[in-house]
Amino acid sequence: MLTEKQKFGKIINLGVEITQVKDLDVLLERILKEARLLVNADAGSIYVKEEDKLKFSYSQNDTLQLRQPGRKLIYSTFKMPINNQSIAGYVANTGDLLNLQDAYKLPSTLPFSFNRKYDDLSGYRTQSMLTFPLKTNRGDTIGVLQLINAKNAKGKPVAFSKKDEPLILHFANMAAVAIERAQMTRAMILRTIKMAELRDPKETGAHVNRVASYSVAIYEHWAAKRGVPHEVLEKNRDILRMAAMLHDVGKVAIADAILKKPARLDDAEREIMKQHTYMGARLFSEQYSEFDDASASVALNHHEKWDGTGYPGHINPFDAKVLPGYENSDGTPRPKKGEEIPVFGRLVALADVYDALSSKRAYKEKWDEVQVLEELKIGSGTHFDPEMVETFFTCIETIRNIAERYPDH
Ligand code: C2E
Ligand code: SIN
Ligand code: SIN
Ligand code: FE
Ligand code: FE
Repeated sequence: MLTEKQKFGKIINLGVEITQVKDLDVLLERILKEARLLVNADAGSIYVKEEDKLKFSYSQNDTLQLRQPGRKLIYSTFKMPINNQSIAGYVANTGDLLNLQDAYKLPSTLPFSFNRKYDDLSGYRTQSMLTFPLKTNRGDTIGVLQLINAKNAKGKPVAFSKKDEPLILHFANMAAVAIERAQMTRAMILRTIKMAELRDPKETGAHVNRVASYSVAIYEHWAAKRGVPHEVLEKNRDILRMAAMLHDVGKVAIADAILKKPARLDDAEREIMKQHTYMGARLFSEQYSEFDDASASVALNHHEKWDGTGYPGHINPFDAKVLPGYENSDGTPRPKKGEEIPVFGRLVALADVYDALSSKRAYKEKWDEVQVLEELKIGSGTHFDPEMVETFFTCIETIRNIAERYPDH
């Protein structure tokens, strides 16, 4: 548990730190974790406003997580109306903070009631609840943060301290501003992807979200195993997620006759299709930030193969010319091989093929999971970095959960 002084110190640093997180999913996770730490809450959820509804967007629960390590919490996303009948709805509607001692003992005079459905499903007992609005500087409520079961030093559930309310409201304001900015960044990326999707109907929001989330999940496990420092991991998760979403954005440069062909490509068409790698990299040529670097690298390298049989090889993406010293005897670029392929490229290669095989395409049917996993095993050491494949199998549960979270349609 934090002392008052530690709390103030933390709040000041957090403002700076969360402002640097650009990806919305990473940000929500971080905000919830920090808010819980601040007031020693066992669990919590974030609701984000979408049009006239509240979307249950993210949740954490230490007790349930301990009960079933590595398992998905049974919570799934859902939307609820913004009105006074639910606790989160009331807070979103009125913009007022609610500090409740026991969700099961609410006076009947209150307009809202507690929905026990999730407790009943999970066997969790919600007691104290601190629910507050995420308000921007303009006073707009963009969401609601709900903290559940404050714990005392012995870990027993207690009420949330009234003293913490101003602190948490200040934190909520910083969080709201950061979320709003991340939503704009996300919207910008999704517009770019939409553009690609208009051209290539299979590059849907669901596909790019899955590839990005798989990549991040594999990276987390890989980085933990390699002892990558926590701050580096946090920063890379953020960058990788966005870069992975944009891996195929270079397909906007490919002619419809090829891109939308409902059959196998012939060799000439396949050669043209290969251009989507460096065409994508060109979009990020300005390299204003690490995000541009990573996006360029992922676009360029996601079809290289571990054994050196991928494409486009050692080229300059801007003119597609072979880099000096990397010509094959016939003048073609030598493909990159092994660790010549940047880590993010190796990661997205695996995530992309896993998703492509698991999905229906205009030119192929969806494969069974058994077949897909077999294909990845066969590809270990040839198509894919064997260490990435191994890591993939250690987090297969997480991968399956992501697939459920972003279904096609
Ligand atoms: P994509 O559909 O997203 O596929 C990404 C990668 O997944 C492919 O890279 C390939 O490595 C793997 N993959 C997809 N389907 C299969 C499959 O049925 N069997 C196997 N063994 N691997 C598969 P690749 O081959 O470099 O293709 C890149 C992109 O080119 C594809 O992205 C797709 O947009 C297009 N493409 C490739 N082949 C065809 C085709 O025969 N017809 C059409 N219309 N498009 C194709
Ligand atoms: C989005 O609408 O931002 C994509 C879906 C999601 O991340 O929830
Ligand atoms: C593809 O279908 O995308 C090509 C993969 C292959 O069968 O070699
Ligand atoms: Fe691709
Ligand atoms: Fe793809």
